[in-house]
Amino acid sequence: MIALDAIRKTYRSGATSHTAIGNVSLTIADGEFVSIVGPSGCGKSTLLNLIAGFIAPSAGEIRVKDQLVEPGHVPSRLGYLFQKDAVLPWLTVEQNVGLGLRFAHMPTAQIRDKVSSLLKLANLRGYENYFPYQLSGGMRQRTALLMTLACDPRVLLLDEPFGALDSHTKINLHRELHEIWRQLRQTIVMVTHDLDEAVALSDRVIVLSGPPSRILLDRRIDIAHPRDPYTVRETEQFGTHLRALWGVLGKEYQRTPDGTAAILGSAA
Ligand SMILES: Nc1ncnc2c1ncn2[C@@H]1O[C@H](COP(=O)(O)OP(=O)(O)OP(=O)(O)O)[C@@H](O)[C@H]1O
Ligand SMILES: [Mg+2]
Repeated sequence: MIALDAIRKTYRSGATSHTAIGNVSLTIADGEFVSIVGPSGCGKSTLLNLIAGFIAPSAGEIRVKDQLVEPGHVPSRLGYLFQKDAVLPWLTVEQNVGLGLRFAHMPTAQIRDKVSSLLKLANLRGYENYFPYQLSGGMRQRTALLMTLACDPRVLLLDEPFGALDSHTKINLHRELHEIWRQLRQTIVMVTHDLDEAVALSDRVIVLSGPPSRILLDRRIDIAHPRDPYTVRETEQFGTHLRALWGVLGKEYQRTPDGTAAILGSAA
């Protein structure tokens, strides 16, 4: 579904340049759930922006569904949940979730039905007419996720979708996302700083090095689906995967210290 072939990305600004992605090749199968972890600034969001066609690689090629991705030409049926809170403050929950469908000229009655079934899926029934400032962080995050899901994406790019949430809300959202994915089987690429979350949800976890980034580890998480986000954490397999990933990532954090790395590295 997604193929990255020898991708490099160098950002230039005046006379200076910075190579965020050194050399990354990666193939992601249809319906696979892949997480990407790595130190802050290693190019994770850049990688998602490249797959979405928002920016061009400095070298290499990207294909989505066998189509070459070119800048400004967003692959069809692609959903992107940005790292920053992406809901529009002046629209209600219902209007936010239905926004993409309105742009796609779907008839109003159909939009209402579709939005209503999505809100049910994410336990947001009853909040249709709330504005984002009236919601909790978790509810806003769910609204943003539903906005992304409304147009039935086949490829879903998620940039730290649960970043700023408490553990309880996070695990509930894991359960919801996992259920949505089990039903619809999109291809998901999720960037996260949370190894627990990566192991609990994904088929594969990719560990990137600090910039210029390359793949340090591509680990298959062979825990059977469906997984319960609570009980999966108690399994032996979960612990084994977590240790293997941390073994690589923890060393990389210490090698390329930044704000996050200093804290996490000292806990290793
Ligand atoms: N538009 C841009 N112009 C110049 N440099 C950029 C641009 N976007 C990103 N960068 C640089 O590229 C590097 C990677 O940025 P990116 O946002 O992809 O990192 P990240 O891995 O997502 O980090 P984080 O975990 O903090 O979100 C950083 O050094 C950043 O400063
Ligand atoms: Mg980022």
